[in-house]
Amino acid sequence: MAERDVVLVRGREGLGLEAARRFAIAATEATRRSGRFTMALSGGSTPVDLYSVLASDAYRSKIGWDSVHVFWGDERCVPPDHAESNYKLASDTLLKHVTIPPNQIHRMRGEDPDPEAAAIEYEQLLRAEFQLSPGEWPRFDLILLGMGADGHTASLFPGSPVLREVKRLVAACEAPSHRQRRLTLTLPVINNARTAIVLVAGKAKEEALRRVLREQNPTDPLPAQLVRPRDGRLIWLIAEASLQLSAISGPLKPKSPAAER
Ligand code: 6PG
Repeated sequence: MAERDVVLVRGREGLGLEAARRFAIAATEATRRSGRFTMALSGGSTPVDLYSVLASDAYRSKIGWDSVHVFWGDERCVPPDHAESNYKLASDTLLKHVTIPPNQIHRMRGEDPDPEAAAIEYEQLLRAEFQLSPGEWPRFDLILLGMGADGHTASLFPGSPVLREVKRLVAACEAPSHRQRRLTLTLPVINNARTAIVLVAGKAKEEALRRVLREQNPTDPLPAQLVRPRDGRLIWLIAEASLQLSAISGPLKPKSPAAER
């Protein structure tokens, strides 16, 4: 795995700005390299900080939106207009405000009454969009992730059998807390990304974050600790204000954003 960057930013506003800066770098590099930028969006609430910066007048013109191809890292098994839909969150806060061609927006069909069928359908979509041969994995230019207080990421939850998936690109699963059915990219897809950015804010995640930052080779890793792009960059963006990092950062002295390229 390439080097892991741990960047502490000041509060949610700092998180959104630094994530947007790195998003723009990844988008520019990808578009120059291949003429398109493929990204998988996260769910949850933290990405809203990023989405609102990207949708702002100051930032919107920095991205070549017509080259952007949008996918999702996971989705709740709800309709696309449901309050808990990750697609709805991104659509309301970002996609409606930028000019990505509709045929380049590829949501997971959470409304499908058969999540297994929806997972197979999304896997087939990925194979077509990335023109994959059998046995190949899609290589996203950017995968955005979050982390829950239990250390889950995407919809990969502690103890889930999906954590051991080594063949499928997309799986149907269940969020243990309220048994909500979910769809998620599997770890081999996530770890095939060129860049993975994990956005973390919220005091409830302090213990999980301490483990991520301090445990080099955990014997019982949290799902978020399994995010290690094989040939890509891993960036942890952590909102410092909402975490007492003095109790966490320990030997890892996170780089300051100024030290980044
Ligand atoms: C989801 C997300 C999930 C999320 C974390 C953090 O669908 O819920 O993909 O992995 O990133 O739960 O959520 P918050 O950003 O709301 O803290």
